[in-house]
Amino acid sequence: MKNKEKRAVRRSGAKIMASLILLLGSLAYIMVLAVINGSVGFLCAMGVTLFGAVGIAKALGEAISLSYGVIVTLTIVCGVLRGLLRYLEQYSNHYIAFRLLAVLRDKIFGALRTLCPAKLESKQKGSIIAMITSDIETLEVFYAHTISPICIAVLVSSCICVFVGTVSGWWLALVALVGFVTVGIVVPMISSGKLKESGVRYRSEFASFNAYFLDSIKGIKDIVLHNAGTEREAEVNRRSDVLLGETKKMKHDTTKAAAATELCVSLFILITLAVGILLVTKDMLTIGRMIIGVVAVFGSFGPVIAISALPGNLTQTFASGDRVLNLLAEEPAVQPVIDGKDMVYNNLEVKNLSFSYDGQTQVLSDICMHAEQGEIIGIVGESGCGKSTLLKLLLRFWKKNQGEILYNGADIDVIDSESLLDNVTMVSQVTYLFDETIEENLRIAKPDAMKEELEEACKLASVHDFILSLPEGYQSRVGALGDNLSAGEKQRIGLARAFLRGSALILLDEPTSNVDSINEGIILNALKEQKSKKSIILVSHRESTMSIADRIYHMEGGKLWA
Ligand SMILES: Nc1ncnc2c1ncn2[C@@H]1O[C@H](COP(=O)(O)OP(=O)(O)O)[C@@H](O)[C@H]1O
Ligand SMILES: [Mg+2]
Repeated sequence: MKNKEKRAVRRSGAKIMASLILLLGSLAYIMVLAVINGSVGFLCAMGVTLFGAVGIAKALGEAISLSYGVIVTLTIVCGVLRGLLRYLEQYSNHYIAFRLLAVLRDKIFGALRTLCPAKLESKQKGSIIAMITSDIETLEVFYAHTISPICIAVLVSSCICVFVGTVSGWWLALVALVGFVTVGIVVPMISSGKLKESGVRYRSEFASFNAYFLDSIKGIKDIVLHNAGTEREAEVNRRSDVLLGETKKMKHDTTKAAAATELCVSLFILITLAVGILLVTKDMLTIGRMIIGVVAVFGSFGPVIAISALPGNLTQTFASGDRVLNLLAEEPAVQPVIDGKDMVYNNLEVKNLSFSYDGQTQVLSDICMHAEQGEIIGIVGESGCGKSTLLKLLLRFWKKNQGEILYNGADIDVIDSESLLDNVTMVSQVTYLFDETIEENLRIAKPDAMKEELEEACKLASVHDFILSLPEGYQSRVGALGDNLSAGEKQRIGLARAFLRGSALILLDEPTSNVDSINEGIILNALKEQKSKKSIILVSHRESTMSIADRIYHMEGGKLWA
């Protein structure tokens, strides 16, 4: 966890920003529109006070060719335009942001699909949930409230400098320029180091607290059973206090930075005024032009204040952006084979198969086995010897290191992935049922199945009668059944899914190890009856499960023998 966080801040802010902007793609032109609207809008806002100053300058005897009527009209036009342009700016920014969030969510789910299942085994589920929810939300801040403010600040500040320089002389323009650079760049840079640190720490505490809390809720039954509630509660409270502490620190740092900014703005306004007065006393500037110049500078800090307020958000944004970019850049453990060989399962042969997850610890070494049509193959071995790993390799969840996995004589790496998954199905130790109806849960194996097909599969898995005994039959919601659904019944539904899928080869990974002996008997019988139509590879650490097997392999320490 700690290592991951360290890696997450390693990509530089500029690089993250560039990568995130690249994701804009064709939405970039709307961003340009937003920036133009925002800049012109801000200049209009300044126009309101500026034309006021022009009016005063005229009253003070400055030679201004505009009549009072025109000055008042221009002031009103500026005011109305400001409102309109601001609306357009915000509209385009949010249009971009939400369109992009939709695109990003789609990309993340796409990435999860290709990374699944291998790469997701090791990732904490809490952090993925955090990524899908809060990280994406944080990026909204970036797209809607970060890129265009920066561009607007640069554009508006340049316009003001040129304007003040032409109207009131370049000395005042220089003061304004130094002010903009100080408020918009220097102060934020000084405070950003601290803010970045506290932002990253806050995010990491937040994610870790979420994961721990979610985990505690999921395991609440075991906590109560082992009377471990007090310790768990204490740990939740401790983490919550740490999170609160980090939040306070972050708020404290943010406030300090904001105060420094305000102070600088006030200082530079005073300096501008002083320089203006000095220039007037030295007869280098008329009072009227001085007033116009000073008023222009007074009102012009808005956009740079807006970017100085960014770092607090930005560090969080960068941390979120980095995590999202990391996920998008993560290489899947295996690439699906597209346009590969189609197959109709007939037999399986494994030759000298070796595998290691990390390149160091050998999990499987030199495995040889075969399975023919209509056979039930048993693989028995102690927990941790590599049985599940072997099954995962047969489904190509991971890429094998050495040896061959041949379906009908063709290597698994050239077989079309879709075709492979159509032919081979796995029922794992625990069947996950979604909080939907039983029927919908079955349909994930075959979305367009006829009702008769569903019932047929359930009959084969000896679970049809049980489902009918439920108050709403196939329409019963799994969530509403809660504990009324035993592990054995869930497993039988899992088995029905596998039958419904219609695959010729079914891999069963400890299908009965969480199940009572009655259910084990039912499941094993159901399998035996399928024997003539299906090939089955049955894995278990229990010898008793092997009673239905035609041939049995033994496994120990990653080695297999008959
Ligand atoms: N995703 C993984 N990453 C790294 N090591 C793993 C992973 N899955 C399993 N292992 C390790 O591989 C070995 C074999 O595990 P497994 O195939 O699950 O055994 P079995 O199913 O026989 O109990 C174990 O030492 C386990 O810790
Ligand atoms: Mg296992």
